[in-house]
Amino acid sequence: MFDVNHNIELNKRRTFAIISHPDAGKTTITEKMLLFGKIIRTSGTIKGRGTGKYAKSDWMNIEKERGISVTTSVIQFAYKNVLINLLDTPGHQDFSEDTYRILTAVDCCLVVIDAAKGIESRTKKLIDVTRSHNTPIITFINKLDRDSLDSIELLDQIEQELQLNCVPITWPISCGKNFKGIYHLYDKYIHLHLNQITEKSNISSLISLSDVLDTKLDHHIGIDLSVQIREELELISNIYPFFNKNKFLKGILTPVFFGSALKNFGIDHLLMSIIKWAPAPLKRQSDIRIVNPQEKKFTGFVFKIQANMDLKHRDRVAFIRIVSGQYNKGMKIRHVRIKKDIIVSNVFSFIAGERFAIKRAYPGDVIGFHNHGTIRIGDTFTEGEEIKFIGIPSFAPEIFRRILLKNPLKQKQLIKGLIQLSEEGAIQVFRPIINSHIILGAIGILQFDVVIERLKIEYNVDAIYEKVNISLARWIRSKNCDITSFQEKNKTYLAFDNSKNLIYLAPNAANLNISIQQYPGISFHKTREQ
Ligand code: G4P
Repeated sequence: MFDVNHNIELNKRRTFAIISHPDAGKTTITEKMLLFGKIIRTSGTIKGRGTGKYAKSDWMNIEKERGISVTTSVIQFAYKNVLINLLDTPGHQDFSEDTYRILTAVDCCLVVIDAAKGIESRTKKLIDVTRSHNTPIITFINKLDRDSLDSIELLDQIEQELQLNCVPITWPISCGKNFKGIYHLYDKYIHLHLNQITEKSNISSLISLSDVLDTKLDHHIGIDLSVQIREELELISNIYPFFNKNKFLKGILTPVFFGSALKNFGIDHLLMSIIKWAPAPLKRQSDIRIVNPQEKKFTGFVFKIQANMDLKHRDRVAFIRIVSGQYNKGMKIRHVRIKKDIIVSNVFSFIAGERFAIKRAYPGDVIGFHNHGTIRIGDTFTEGEEIKFIGIPSFAPEIFRRILLKNPLKQKQLIKGLIQLSEEGAIQVFRPIINSHIILGAIGILQFDVVIERLKIEYNVDAIYEKVNISLARWIRSKNCDITSFQEKNKTYLAFDNSKNLIYLAPNAANLNISIQQYPGISFHKTREQ
């Protein structure tokens, strides 16, 4: 079952995503990582959306108009002989259910926190999602070159709000205008920041001192700051435990790094931690058995579908995370849900939205191939085995609208369009029990605009939205009890999703809490397996 070369390829790979609240520095960190990985040569390449070499896809007017990306990028780059697959998580207005689902396809997450702002709402939500898989988390506290919150206070916030034990691996020497560098607590060296930033060298000028007691430190940062940092280091060595890789891999403990992405300070520490500690591609649970990445036969699952690379052909690209075996060009694979074998010869990999044909790929890699509406989120592909990977759920929407037709004669096309769009994961569609309204649910507001635009272009349907009094949704399951009376009494709040699952659409949290208390025999779920 085991093959030496296959194992070498496996152990070389790390697949991770970056989580952050908008503006914490995810794009800047990605960019610096790509500089280290020699994928790009100058800063600004990623941010120059629409102009740069790696400008994102512009398949829809909406993207062009707003200068944002609705598409997910997967970036593979090599650093010190390790192949890193970085899955970009849509962040600003393009935040969507995809952002959540991408987190179910990675083996590790990097959380970026703005040192001046601490834990922000989006970070908390995203960390909640990683919890269901116990994904290992590496933390980077960014923007130390600006005035920041106290470092210990930041670690307290992480421990309390994200429920993660912190182990600082590096420690900042002051912040803002006084930011002098980073001390590596484990490797025992200091990188001093001398305010001589050269874009060409990618790294700010720095000096390494072998130990914090080195008197050269007094010379470089002044006696007062040297004394302060020595005291701080003594204090934190008493507060925080040693790094424990097992606890990290179980998602209990997070190693914490400090730095400044803008000044390229601390990014190399992060990359080293990913190489050293992030897991190689992990095994994965299917409905029947656990699939190990070392297995020879190919398996993988779809975690994202991106539509409309070519409008005329309703071209859709399925993103597949490989779990085991290898993909080899021209191989036959089974689309388990529809029980069909297909030969996929035109498979590609991605660099920041651009596609490259590939001949071979391994577990941890993400491959894409075309389909014409037959593939759904959560589908499994194998070399024949009838299994289905689990843990790629639908997430309860957070924003709701009622959709209305401008021309009522187009009802059939509207329904067809909405069913297809929901299968792609672009939107969720609900049909209330008590009326014939169509309610749409999404996680990011932009998803609604995308749906209106796509209905018009692809299905020739003109539609508009109306606000609805719904703010929370939970899928309903009975814990072995009859739910008829619950259904009867709550029919104004109940609807069916596209797969005929019952969902509770609550006007507010108080209403939902009352129902939860009144019906202990019923469970209310934030996620639903595809
Ligand atoms: P995001 O992808 O998480 O949304 O954040 P992004 O990297 O786009 O960074 C948001 C803003 O914060 C950018 O400034 C970026 O330059 C700045 N930034 C990122 N890292 C650091 C850092 O370590 N220190 C400081 N001082 N700033 C940082 P902007 O003005 O919004 O954009 P730009 O004009 O600089 O591109």
